[in-house]
Amino acid sequence: MTGRRVLVAGSALASLAAEPLAGATVEVVGLERLTGVGPADADLILIDADACTAQALASAVQALAACPAPPPVLMVGERLPTGVVRNLLRLERSDVLDAPFSAEHIAVAVAGLMSQTAAAAPASAPQADGASRCWAVVGAVGGSGGTTIAVEIATALCARQAKEKSVCLIDLNLADGAAAAYLGAQPSMKLGDFGAAADRIDPAMLQAFVTPVTKQLDLLAAARDPSAFDAIGREAVLKMLEVACESYDWVVIDMPRHRRAWSLEALSGCDEVLVVSELTVPALIAARALSDELEHAMASGLKPRIVLNRLASRMFGPAPSTAEAERALGCKAEGGISSDWEAAAASVNLGGPIAQHRPKSKIVKDIQQLVERLATQPARRAAQPGHASRAA
Ligand SMILES: Nc1ncnc2c1ncn2[C@@H]1O[C@H](COP(=O)(O)OP(=O)(O)OP(=O)(O)O)[C@@H](O)[C@H]1O
Ligand SMILES: [Mg+2]
Repeated sequence: MTGRRVLVAGSALASLAAEPLAGATVEVVGLERLTGVGPADADLILIDADACTAQALASAVQALAACPAPPPVLMVGERLPTGVVRNLLRLERSDVLDAPFSAEHIAVAVAGLMSQTAAAAPASAPQADGASRCWAVVGAVGGSGGTTIAVEIATALCARQAKEKSVCLIDLNLADGAAAAYLGAQPSMKLGDFGAAADRIDPAMLQAFVTPVTKQLDLLAAARDPSAFDAIGREAVLKMLEVACESYDWVVIDMPRHRRAWSLEALSGCDEVLVVSELTVPALIAARALSDELEHAMASGLKPRIVLNRLASRMFGPAPSTAEAERALGCKAEGGISSDWEAAAASVNLGGPIAQHRPKSKIVKDIQQLVERLATQPARRAAQPGHASRAA
């Protein structure tokens, strides 16, 4: 139990700190402290039912059931109220122990609960060669299509594999990311809870933050919070990326355009950085500038690839053609994504990728081609274990 944090409700159990919980940090708390408790607060909760009224116990178990990812709970006592026990056992990880019990009984029950925590880690391990791949998508200007393309790339990657939980889409627009809304999913990443304790993020804890979208695709996205960029530490972001790269074959990051304390390190751990531009001259100029800035600033020295979004099919008109766009960029673009406003709007309104709601859209075909081209090339950077930024 070394390094684990245990919340104990009922002071009589505090003595367990010496024996079965040796090495853990044990905090004796009131039942009210269990409201809203999450994996960042404790690794285990011990409740002495004999120290509380049945009413207070029932409310506490109800509060735990309402938590998105409550820590494992062990309830002990001589008079365990049946209704409370039934509700407790509905929690994903819980157990009960009738008094009288020995320190050994507690140790066995705790070990059982903690091993369930380890098993809650993702079923998938990184690819057979041990190398996860991580691609970042960043818009050159606001509204250029970064989130749309990140969502569709993650979806296209899922279509290439049968393995469950193989792709994770991470929205690092921590204050007002749109990936969850685009997918019609509930964001549940709470990096702010970690404060200075980023090292506590492990694969099991990461699973408490992910929103499963499909069998293959998990989403890591935070609920809207205007102060998130100030509240969430660099260590927490980088550790989360490191653990995600350990847990999934493919990680796709929807990156914020403005540089944060962790941006360069996060990008340096990627084997592809895609800068998305729309087809206006200011956007193309910004895309070239952003691409150059990143190439020079990233520790990996990786050259970002520019993706032109919302290509119109007409040959003439106010929008530049791909060739004209490449002249303005002063370099080749990696790929072009067709414009299809109806498909893009319908999909975000319905909640889900364009590949699901408008599978025949040219956007889907263009993304598939881009993904196929990039995924079949060897990773341009020695792939992590963990997000390489940590090693930098
Ligand atoms: N290829 C496309 N064809 C038509 N519409 C598109 C295309 N790509 C994106 N859009 C639409 O453009 C708008 C902006 O897209 P999106 O939100 O993906 O951009 P963004 O770069 O992530 O924006 P932000 O700067 O707010 O993060 C959305 O309404 C989206 O549906
Ligand atoms: Mg976006």
